[in-house]
Amino acid sequence: MELEKFINKIINGDCLEVLKAIPDCSIDAVITSPPYNMGRDYDVYNDNRDFDEYFNWLFQVLDELVRVLNQNRRLIINIQPVISKKIPTHHIISNYLLKKGLQFYTEIIWYKNNYKCVPFLGSQKHKSPYIKSNIEYILVFTKGDDKYIKDIDILEMSEFEYAKITTTFWNINPDTEMKKLKHPAKFPLEIPERLIKLFTYPDDIILDPFIGTGTTALACLKLKRRFIGIELSRNYCETANKLIENFIKQKSLF
Ligand SMILES: C[S@@+](CC[C@H](N)C(=O)[O-])C[C@H]1O[C@@H](n2cnc3c(N)ncnc32)[C@H](O)[C@@H]1O
Repeated sequence: MELEKFINKIINGDCLEVLKAIPDCSIDAVITSPPYNMGRDYDVYNDNRDFDEYFNWLFQVLDELVRVLNQNRRLIINIQPVISKKIPTHHIISNYLLKKGLQFYTEIIWYKNNYKCVPFLGSQKHKSPYIKSNIEYILVFTKGDDKYIKDIDILEMSEFEYAKITTTFWNINPDTEMKKLKHPAKFPLEIPERLIKLFTYPDDIILDPFIGTGTTALACLKLKRRFIGIELSRNYCETANKLIENFIKQKSLF
């Protein structure tokens, strides 16, 4: 199996199939946001499946991600808490990764600051209000027991930024380009940027098996990491490739 042919590419295909061609222990970080099974209107993927079927599929993807991840590296999943059989989905994912022998590292709350709540006073008397979720989780797990340390002298953040992002509460507005890019669930560039700075080194290989519009790839290019992106929709792949081309063109102007 040859890794080189996947590097810095967005591969159009089903990640479960594509991942099988990636060698064991070859990836330095997985940074991804899978579909949440909450009925989002994706181009070709059905985001409204029976929950057993959804998890059966997602667990197979997670098995592959754990296999391809190198020792002492991070598996990072961004997920919105949707309730499946009265259990929040991020708990189900965390439990699965623990069962697979990964170590829990941290759980970051991404506060999206995007609900302009108009209270409906009438619901108060029932004592069973609908609580709107204005957060998502970023689950960080490690494969192996040791720290991932490379002897490289780099400073990629100011002290102020380091202090801000080494907390479990990230206040980041949702992405504003979703309508324009015709994708219903893009995360803002700042999410993969922060994760890359915190958990990887320059030239590392970062895998996003659900890369959508290519946000993780752009963060990698910006921070001089290599990426492997996989995406089921041909249209989203085209969008990702255009954004990458634009980024490279702009960079070459400076
Ligand atoms: C939550 S979105 C990720 C968005 C991405 N983080 C971004 O910023 O654009 C999940 C993506 O997974 C893709 N997807 C669904 N099933 C897939 C599969 N089997 N293989 C690869 N991609 C898949 C969907 O088309 C969708 O773009």
